[in-house]
Formats: sequence, structure tokens, C-alpha cells
Amino acid sequence: MSKIIIDGNHELSGEIKISGAKNSAVALIPAAILSENKSVIYNVPEIRDIDYLIKIMELLNCKVEHKNDALYIDSSKIENKPIPEELSVQMRASYYFMGVLLAKFGKVEISFPGGCNIGARPIDIHIKAFEELGAKVEIVKNRYTITAEKLIGKKIYFDFPSVGATINVMLAAIGAEGTTIIENAAMEPEIVNVASLLINMGAKIHGAGTKTIEIEGNKKLDNGVVEVFPDRIESGTYIIIGALLGNNLKIKGIIKEHIEALLMKIKEIGINYSIDNDTLTISKCNDIKSTYIKTLVFPGFPTDLQQPITTLLTQAKGKSIIEETLYENRFKNTYDLNRMGAITNILSLNKLEIIGPRKLKGTNVIATDLRGGASLLIAGLIAEGTTTIDNSEYILRGYGDVVNKLKNVGANIEITEE
Ligand code: UD1
Repeated sequence: MSKIIIDGNHELSGEIKISGAKNSAVALIPAAILSENKSVIYNVPEIRDIDYLIKIMELLNCKVEHKNDALYIDSSKIENKPIPEELSVQMRASYYFMGVLLAKFGKVEISFPGGCNIGARPIDIHIKAFEELGAKVEIVKNRYTITAEKLIGKKIYFDFPSVGATINVMLAAIGAEGTTIIENAAMEPEIVNVASLLINMGAKIHGAGTKTIEIEGNKKLDNGVVEVFPDRIESGTYIIIGALLGNNLKIKGIIKEHIEALLMKIKEIGINYSIDNDTLTISKCNDIKSTYIKTLVFPGFPTDLQQPITTLLTQAKGKSIIEETLYENRFKNTYDLNRMGAITNILSLNKLEIIGPRKLKGTNVIATDLRGGASLLIAGLIAEGTTTIDNSEYILRGYGDVVNKLKNVGANIEITEE
């Protein structure tokens, strides 16, 4: 059990460097299986999911070397094996082994993936697409056995542009005969990052990052190299922290196009910043306006920044409304925010009202999921007094080296392991 302890209300200045994107890295590692040889993935973040993915890769007889922030993966001697439940439930991204093992061996046995409890999170879009490519899917007590004598490329229409399903089908389509076309694909940058590794290995993929992706299958893929994009959600979280406590706080590793929705929103509510190359500079804003935010798929406002920005809006003047359209259980952080002095009201399953500005007071709180934990971390940083966050391992799942990064810019923050 990790506990983060924060003595709040300290000004932050200096530079924070953004790590590689969690949601890219967790797809790029399984994607390396599609190489007949070796892959190198640079800028891998220091988060727990990576350790579990490496365990699964090693179970499948891939050699993985972790040097500094790079992973060197040799998948030339890969063997297909059932993936035990105790590994697959550790994270959501274990579902990418479905796509890659199906492409490589025409068979995969794996349990329903894990991940934060923020809603039902079914994987029906992935499964339906695998079936359309010719796979048979058997589900017994949450255990999936997916087999295909042959996958055949075809046009697939997604009822919803799911990030996971888009990447998973792109991976499976590498092993299909002919061309697969995904219509209504998700457009998140992580999809472009994964496509760029596959293209570097020799795959023919067009349109990643747009609504229509075309994948030519049945290609043997060779060595590949890729750099993980900077994490847009980590960037957004530190930008929010800068708007509350910064004194010329510099955030390095920004790709502006990936966080446009957040940048437009904070500008609208009176927060100023400047960007020079990949570095954004931001200072505390004392006059934040209230607003309305609706979470949407990319390029809309990301659901993963919804909970962090809720804390920012506790400091805005007036009534803000957040509409969460992706998940049905993503306001759990507000219980503890209110205990710290915020006024938030859940108006309906997906609508939250925040009334500010409110002074927050440190107390003992519990992280219930990754981004909810980030919301409490931000609250602790701005609160008077001491905040103790239990279950902080949730936060560490998405924010590599978070305690040192914040300490280095002036926060009074510690972590303890029990
Ligand atoms: C990914 C991210 C997660 C982020 C989310 C939305 C990873 C490992 N996780 O999750 O951090 O919050 O994108 O940006 O990359 N859905 C279905 N059926 C499916 C698939 C999804 O109904 O087969 C629904 C989900 O329940 C959810 C919505 O579609 O309501 C979005 O899900 P999706 O885009 O697939 O997100 P994840 O891949 O789970």
C-alpha cells in the first residue's frame, strides 16, 4: 500500500519533464510481438503496467531488456501460451494480446482485462470485429478463447470509436489475408504511435489518426523502432497544477496538437500560458471563470482529464458543469473533494455541478482510480494543511515518478510504502 502525503499550498517553479504516454506504451509492447525479429521502444514511462506487460512478454518467450527508458524486445522465439488471469487482470491493456496473438498464431486464451473501475467497460466492439475477420470466440467464466484458422481482411464499421478496439483490430489485421478497413475508427494520438511502429516494421497502414484506417495484412514484419509520444494526460495534469500553483512553471514535452481541447478550455476560463517549442510556461491564475465541459473522444475534451480539471474548477468563480459521456462511474473523486471543502453535486449519472471558489483543507482521502487519484493529488497540493492519499498506487499507474517530479519544483510531498 502506498500513501502520498502532501503539505499543501506551496508555489511551484522550475521544470517538469513529461514522460512517455502510458496508453501508447501499453499497446506498443504487445505490438512488438508482430516483429519476426527485434524492436526498440524509446521513452517508456516508469509505471507499474509496464512491469506486468514485460512479465506477459517473458511468459511468451520474448526477451525483454529494460535499459534507462528504452525497451529492447526480441520476439523471434515467441511461443503461444494461455495468459493467466492473475496477469491479465492487472491492467486494461492486456486485451492487446488478443489482437497480436490472433494475428501471429490464430489462437489466444486470455481473461477479461482489468483496469480502473470507472464503468462497465465491455470489449464487445473488439470481439465483434475479430469475429468479422473470421475468428471464433468462446467465453467461459470471463475467459476468452479466440481462434481463427485464417483471418480475412474486410471492411469493419465500429458502432463507437473505441481506442482499444481500433488498436486491437489494427494489430489483428496484420495477420489477415487482404485489406482490412476500419470505419469510424478512434483518432487518438496513441493510435498513430502504434501505427508508426508497425509501419517501421514494414506494415502498410494508411489513415491512422483519421476516421478510416486501412491495413494491408499478411505481411511478415521485421525489426522496428519507435519513440513513445509524450503523455498528453500527464501533460494536461501538470498544466492544471501550474494554473493553480505555478510561478513560471515549465512543462517540457508538450505536443500542442494533442492537448488542444484542454488549452482552449483553460484559455476560455482566464488562464494564460505561453508555449515555446515543446515547453509550456504557466503561472497561478487568481481569477478562474466557471465553465461547461463535455468529455468526448479525441479531439474533444479527454475523459482522462475530467477528474483532474474538476479540482481546478473548485477554484473557479461560479457554477461549472461537467458532462461525462464516456464512462458512467467517473465522479467517485468528488466524495473526498467535498470532504476537503469543495462543493460538488452529482446531478445525474453523467452530470456534475461544481460551485466555487472554495478553500480546500487537507485531510485523509482515498484514491479510488487513477485519474480520480490525480484529482485528489491536485486537491492536496492546493489545500491548507496536510493531505494523506491512501491507495496511491492508482496514481503511480499513470504518473511515473510523480513524487520526485513535484518535489523538484517545490512541492512538499512524500510517499510511504506499507
Ligand atoms: C482507453 C484508455 C483510457 C481512456 C479511454 C478513453 C488505454 C489502455 N486506456 O481505454 O485511459 O479513458 O481510452 O479515452 O488506452 N466501449 C464499449 N465496447 C467496447 C469498447 C469500448 O462499449 O468494446 C465503451 C467503453 O465502455 C467506454 C467507451 O466505449 O464507454 C470508450 O472506450 P475505449 O475508447 O475503448 O476506451 P479503452 O480502450 O477502454
